[in-house]
Amino acid sequence: MEVWRPCLQRGPGASRESVLRTTPLAFPMIIPAGPAHPLAMAAIHAAAFPPSDAWGPAVIAAQLGQPGVFGLIDESGGMLLARIAADEAEILTLAVCPEARRHGIARALLAEAVSQARARGAARLLLEVSALNEAACRLYETTGFMRVGLRKRYYADGADALILALPLMPNLRPGANTES
Ligand SMILES: CC(C)(COP(=O)(O)OP(=O)(O)OC[C@H]1O[C@@H](n2cnc3c(N)ncnc32)[C@H](O)[C@@H]1OP(=O)(O)O)[C@@H](O)C(=O)NCCC(=O)NCCS
Repeated sequence: MEVWRPCLQRGPGASRESVLRTTPLAFPMIIPAGPAHPLAMAAIHAAAFPPSDAWGPAVIAAQLGQPGVFGLIDESGGMLLARIAADEAEILTLAVCPEARRHGIARALLAEAVSQARARGAARLLLEVSALNEAACRLYETTGFMRVGLRKRYYADGADALILALPLMPNLRPGANTES
């Protein structure tokens, strides 16, 4: 049986192996998500989001069963779900365990999602993010995403949702402005 430890500890007590497993800078271990992974992905999601926003294994399994949906896991404690429909791809969720952050895991997951979306013919990659989520906004901004829409007071905390797009095909603009 597979034992999943999404967020191994670092620090004086950590073994060399665990430190290596939580140091993904040079060799991020990204694998495609399959039917065996919803539990592990849910554990990462629960560690990354407040309880009210966490996706359980059943939700993740249902998402993975939808047409066009694919998942990625970074074995050090990151996960991503994305969907491709026609020529558009969308990041459904992205999460990295607090202990594993600022080691490039989200950036690596995003890069792999971009690569897969491009390979499957998507012309642009969309996502939605809270305007108050500084870490995620900075990540997307530095990846090249541009704002194409705004949903005012979209989230329960009153924050606006930014709709961001990344063109995947050469010479393609991110898209028509849908700001309201
Ligand atoms: C947002 C999140 C996915 C980033 O994961 P991560 O693995 O720590 O991100 P990375 O290490 O790949 O960081 C890439 C870049 O993002 C930006 N970034 C990440 N965390 C940041 C922070 N706390 N503050 C400011 N910028 C940050 C930086 O530009 C960073 O590059 P740098 O480290 O070279 O400065 C993670 O913080 C998380 O899971 N948050 C909770 C869930 C969430 O908000 N998901 C996204 C919903 S849209």
